[in-house]
Amino acid sequence: MKGLKILGLSLLVVLLLSFPITAIESTDVANKLNYESDVIYQILTDRFSDGDPTNDNPYNIPNSYDSTGKDVDKYLGGDWQGIINKISYLKSMGVTAIWITPPQDNVDQPYLYNGVYYNAYHGYWAKDYFRPDEHWGNWQKFDELVNTAHLNGIKVVIDFAPNHTSHRDGYEYGGLYKDGVLLGRANNDTQGLFHHNGNRLDSQTTRFDFQYRDLANLADLSQENSTVISYLNDAARLWLDHGIDGIRNDAVLHQNDAFLKTWADEINAYKPVFHFGEYFTNKPDPNYGDYRTFQERTGISILDFEYANTVRRVFGSFTENMNDLSNMLGYTSRDYTYVNDAVTFIDNHDLVRFSTLQPDKAIFHAALAFHLTSRGTPVIYYGTEQYISGADSDDGRQLMPVFDTTTTAYQVIKQLAGLRKSNPALQYGTTTVRWVNNDVIIYERQFYDDLVLVAVNRSGYSYNISGLRTNLPPATYGDFLGGLLSGNSIVVNADGTVNSFVLGPTEVGVWQVRKLTTSSPQIGAVGPTMGRAGNKIAIDGEGFGTSLGVVKFDTIQASVASWSNTHIEAVVPNVAPGLRNVTVTANGLTSNAFACQVLTGDQVQVIFHVNAQTNLGENVYVVGNIDELGNWDPGKAYMPFHNPNYPEWFLPVSVPANKTIEFKFIKKDANGNVIWEGGTNRVLTSPLSGSADTPLYYWQ
Ligand code: NOJ
Ligand code: NOJ
Ligand code: CA
Repeated sequence: MKGLKILGLSLLVVLLLSFPITAIESTDVANKLNYESDVIYQILTDRFSDGDPTNDNPYNIPNSYDSTGKDVDKYLGGDWQGIINKISYLKSMGVTAIWITPPQDNVDQPYLYNGVYYNAYHGYWAKDYFRPDEHWGNWQKFDELVNTAHLNGIKVVIDFAPNHTSHRDGYEYGGLYKDGVLLGRANNDTQGLFHHNGNRLDSQTTRFDFQYRDLANLADLSQENSTVISYLNDAARLWLDHGIDGIRNDAVLHQNDAFLKTWADEINAYKPVFHFGEYFTNKPDPNYGDYRTFQERTGISILDFEYANTVRRVFGSFTENMNDLSNMLGYTSRDYTYVNDAVTFIDNHDLVRFSTLQPDKAIFHAALAFHLTSRGTPVIYYGTEQYISGADSDDGRQLMPVFDTTTTAYQVIKQLAGLRKSNPALQYGTTTVRWVNNDVIIYERQFYDDLVLVAVNRSGYSYNISGLRTNLPPATYGDFLGGLLSGNSIVVNADGTVNSFVLGPTEVGVWQVRKLTTSSPQIGAVGPTMGRAGNKIAIDGEGFGTSLGVVKFDTIQASVASWSNTHIEAVVPNVAPGLRNVTVTANGLTSNAFACQVLTGDQVQVIFHVNAQTNLGENVYVVGNIDELGNWDPGKAYMPFHNPNYPEWFLPVSVPANKTIEFKFIKKDANGNVIWEGGTNRVLTSPLSGSADTPLYYWQ
């Protein structure tokens, strides 16, 4: 079987003859909404590259810099100039988006904890969301970073932490500033800018505990407070005005859903960008149900922790096997509404480096190949391509040691990033597992006529692969990686069977077909997946043709802002709120439907309060006469209310602004049994902006 191996180069020639690859079609930096074709590279700005020594040790922040580059609790010098200097390194790795550390001004003084001084080098201890942090550069430098990235086909995603400022018990007492002007501190909070419910203990696990208590003593912003809401809205606008292409929203598990939905709505109505949230989960996690529906509730995409946790066990600790991996691919595709829209990763700054979990490079490469060819937009954590190892908050966050473009990991990323760009099967395709045992997984990605078949062996054993079937058309396929991970060619017969072959130790084979002519328009992605009439959306896919066609939300036509064969920008029309099917019609043919949530209008928060006695297992909900309140359908009621002060219950809910709403409270148990309160419908008018509390109602 090994005899089948043909050199990568000659195979490429064979493939070019049978499946001509013409110009690589791809979305580019102009596409700020759909990231399915991208590879994101996560940069801890302080740890990547020092391009400007003058900002290493600012005069106002003494004793926080370690010039030897070793003390990971201090600043180590990295900055935006450093990223600018390394753009070609990133570009030639195939990276098309960078996700950088929160860029906002953080506290100056270190935080003393158990005798150790910790600095804000990671950017998660903000004090002023309207200013860049002096360690990274100034506004001019930020603009230069964005421009340089864009000129090189790279989008810029900023990390953003709206959940909290700095330590409640630190030097600033969580102080929140607006362009240098102090608005308030957590220790003297006359305006209610912060929550004051104590630090969350591990034993405190209700949604109230996660959202209303402090995360690691960080002063928890009250996202129900109108001053905070408008502050965060304005801050987002400021960074959007500086040309950012995406937002990674920190610690969304700890934020109120209604705030997140309204904030995303603000952004989407202003300058929409791809927006994904860090909903931290373990596995198994009691919050899984909440996590998997997060995007439906808020319109914000998810960082795929379920995926990461599984991949790390299967390829890292070997505590799960390929059958578990196959199961995860199956249940996540059923459980997530938009599985290709998830942002996948195998390590990050909060986890032990993958290289530490799996020091064997061949297995490490197999995991990387899986990561780059499976569903979702992959994030490569800086230095993964240089095999940085270490614990999350220790050596794992070390300075980038070298920028070596010859490592196998760098080459694997480069090649597969190219395949992600050129083959829509990796962007929008379904996943079908074709063959699996404990050590081997063979899966197929398919988007109409485009297919990618991948075989991965994580073990040191050879396996004979027989009985494999595929939808690849009959032909001999060379390994797309040209043998980089020891892959060989395969022979697909007319009946879809694949001739038996041997998959050697830690071998990865990638076989693909890309058909450029399509018979009908095919939608792969629509983003954002939630929005109101008048908002811009992007539709990506294939076969839209070059002459103007029609976009519809159900039966209502949307106005089109731009049209190309693979990318359309349109405006959400005036259509009944709720889940609507987006379709594209071109040359008389209509595409598949892609469901998006249409909102009733500009969103604001109403914080409902009710006093209600319940039996064990019952929760209180609100339903009403608008889509955001389930249109009176108890099955579609928003989240259950919080009850830290039972029998008082409350819940912030995102509803259209300045609207008269009818509603009632209901009680529901885990089996879905519903008890309605009596009396006539209650009525309120929602505020024009920000938030408003209802009076405390009594169950009637
Ligand atoms: C999650 C971030 O990824 C982590 O690094 C940070 O410490 C916490 N959120 C708090 O911002
Ligand atoms: C612990 C993680 O280290 C932190 O980053 C994350 O935000 C929280 N867990 C979520 O609860
Ligand atoms: Ca919070």
